[in-house]
Amino acid sequence: MPADSRTDFPNDFVWGAATASYQIEGGTHEDGRGESVWDRFAATPGKVRNGDSGEIACDFYHRYRDDVALMRELGLDAFRFSISWPRVLPEGRGRVNAAGLDFYDRLVDELLANDIEPFVTLFHWDTPQVLEDAGGWPVRATAEAFVEYTEAVAGRLGDRVRHWITHNEPWVCAWVGYAWGEHAPGRTSESDAVAAAHHLLLAHGWAVAAIRRAAPDAQVGITLNLAHIYAASDSPEDEAAAWQVDGEGNRWFLDPVFRGSYPADLLERNAIVAPFVLDGDLEAVSVPIDFLGVNNYSRFVVGAGAGAEGPRFVRDPEAQHTDMGWEVYPDGLHRLLGRVADEYAPAAIYVTENGAAFGDVRVHDGRVHDPERTAYLESYIGAVGRALTDGVPMKGYFVWSLLDNFEWARGYSMRFGIVYIDYPTLERVPKDSFYWYRDFIAARRGTPSPSPSATVT
Ligand code: FCB
Repeated sequence: MPADSRTDFPNDFVWGAATASYQIEGGTHEDGRGESVWDRFAATPGKVRNGDSGEIACDFYHRYRDDVALMRELGLDAFRFSISWPRVLPEGRGRVNAAGLDFYDRLVDELLANDIEPFVTLFHWDTPQVLEDAGGWPVRATAEAFVEYTEAVAGRLGDRVRHWITHNEPWVCAWVGYAWGEHAPGRTSESDAVAAAHHLLLAHGWAVAAIRRAAPDAQVGITLNLAHIYAASDSPEDEAAAWQVDGEGNRWFLDPVFRGSYPADLLERNAIVAPFVLDGDLEAVSVPIDFLGVNNYSRFVVGAGAGAEGPRFVRDPEAQHTDMGWEVYPDGLHRLLGRVADEYAPAAIYVTENGAAFGDVRVHDGRVHDPERTAYLESYIGAVGRALTDGVPMKGYFVWSLLDNFEWARGYSMRFGIVYIDYPTLERVPKDSFYWYRDFIAARRGTPSPSPSATVT
């Protein structure tokens, strides 16, 4: 369903685009920045495709003014970006690096001067390497260090930033980073992952309190990666397998944040986490928040595996998949939003990431024609519109991503941007989806579309 003359997005609905520090900034050695776990991981042979790293990335650190100008052309209401923790605290704790904060100060001012609302994510996975060396997220001290960091950032930007996100996708940081070893820091221990998840949640709760102290009027939330889990059939075995996957990916984070408890059915995980949960932790984790950020790209279909194999993920070979191998299934987002609203009743929900990687090429006319991405965005925005019509308190939508960027272990091989980056020259080339989104936003506001979509910057 197209997005959509039938859905009336309210006037204050926020149209945005999202990014993350390590994926776009570059400038990894500038102005006293310390080493992050992603610098170390990317420098380790075999960890990132083609040996890519974020050392230069999109060079946003130096080109942010031009990129804010692009955002303005796009008509964005809001820009979601993250702060690099090792820019602010190069030694992890103690000394605050004023030059690192200056960069974000300038960026916030540039956004506000262009009527673009900053949505700041404090942690999008670039932990200072020194803190990882001291134990990383599986140890409680990292959550304490995160509060110091939060105080430094909120103390500096809290007079202007009104929307804060503590963490991005703690499941990915804990599980892909500490259990599967596919992301930094590359560990392969399930118990480390469960402990990391707990300390990430604890850090979230403490950080909410710290932000409120510095900026009492700010809106504060957390971003979770959530997906609707469909059972492969209505057999009790398949339903149970789907419920288990839902518990591991969705409820393990939703329940502590909104209910102050871990899901009782995940017995093994409960046994592992129990020693790390101290008195008062779950009260801290479940501090009321102003909004939930939902990152969603796809859905999962899950059935029971043979014997003791555990849940089995089922792939529909007929369905459309993006370059990431993720199924295009907008109805999954619609179902997910309705379910989260019904069961957890967040005060507000933003889709803080949604988008698609396709193998874009710049063709002879200098343009990038990406009709699949436009269709993807249109259909997922349609799903958000349907959730809104159902009464879900949707407040905004952020495309992932503004720019093509460093896609973690896949390096630069995945292009998610609505702006193409020509990496050898770092030239920015708005794709057709950029112009589609621009016209869509303008139409929602009832403002006439700007000049024809012919400019290539
Ligand atoms: C999400 C991450 C984001 C980006 C997208 C494609 O899991 O939050 O940084 O990599 O996936």
